[in-house]
Amino acid sequence: MLGNKKDLLGLKDISAEDIKSILHNAETMKYILSQKNKKTPHLQGRSVVTLFYENSTRTRLSFELASKYMSANSANIAASGSSVAKGETLIDTAKTIDAMGTDILIMRHSMSGAPHLIAPLVKASVINAGDGMNEHPTQALLDIFTIREKKGRIEGLKVAIVGDIYHSRVARSNIYGLTKLGAEVCVGGPSTLIPEGMEQMGVKVFKSVHEALIDADVVMALRIQLERQKKGLFPSVREYSRFFGVDEKRLKFAKPDALVMHPGPVNRGVEFSSSVVDGDQSVINEQVTNGVAVRMAVMYLLSRRGQVNENSN
Ligand code: CP
Repeated sequence: MLGNKKDLLGLKDISAEDIKSILHNAETMKYILSQKNKKTPHLQGRSVVTLFYENSTRTRLSFELASKYMSANSANIAASGSSVAKGETLIDTAKTIDAMGTDILIMRHSMSGAPHLIAPLVKASVINAGDGMNEHPTQALLDIFTIREKKGRIEGLKVAIVGDIYHSRVARSNIYGLTKLGAEVCVGGPSTLIPEGMEQMGVKVFKSVHEALIDADVVMALRIQLERQKKGLFPSVREYSRFFGVDEKRLKFAKPDALVMHPGPVNRGVEFSSSVVDGDQSVINEQVTNGVAVRMAVMYLLSRRGQVNENSN
């Protein structure tokens, strides 16, 4: 269980033990997904709704597949095709979904803190699928799962996170999760894209990408989020790529067996060259694969809330 928690809103608020419990359960889910018949009864009779106010391919589809594999009744709402487009508020929309007996509400919103606002107002378990620049906990969990699967551990590894740290909810969740599990996290990129206070989060900050990469076990590049940026944070995409992008030459600063990771979607030729994205060290597609198992584990653990107490009565 996740310490009997109702919601998963971020990795800031959960313990190393909670994270390990999710990773452990995700291993079982991955085994189930390797079978010909992927169907399990873990969420039989439960209902899962995804409510996305921002675009998504990986997160939304993997939650949808995960709930179907676990025999839940699932439905999707995109803001553009719902009564949100008629002016309904986020709170009213969430309460409407809750009133239909939803057990798990998965939401993505451009406003940091949106799922934290909704969680206490609904009976459903709320899972944060990305809130503004704040957190994207299930992405970090699948990243950590992938690193642990490939390297056999998290503790003592050096993880370099490079690129647009400032706007990245993926970076924040990974920093919380990886440092709790004992990794050394280094960030690198243009100073305009590195927020204040990173050192207080237990992170080493470098103003150049190659310095952050030196002897790294994992190189995680983040997408330049042009949709969230004000103009003028760097001169041009071409210059960004030249000075801060990771190509085969720059990747050599990391360990020879360093994992190449990216949450996707990738701006090919900007944060990573295509040769690095498609190279032997890349585990980007395995991250996507693991996303289904990790999201199954999170939904399963949240669905078991209260069960131990109920059974012991
Ligand atoms: N990594 C990630 O959140 O991808 P999507 O936007 O496609 O869901």
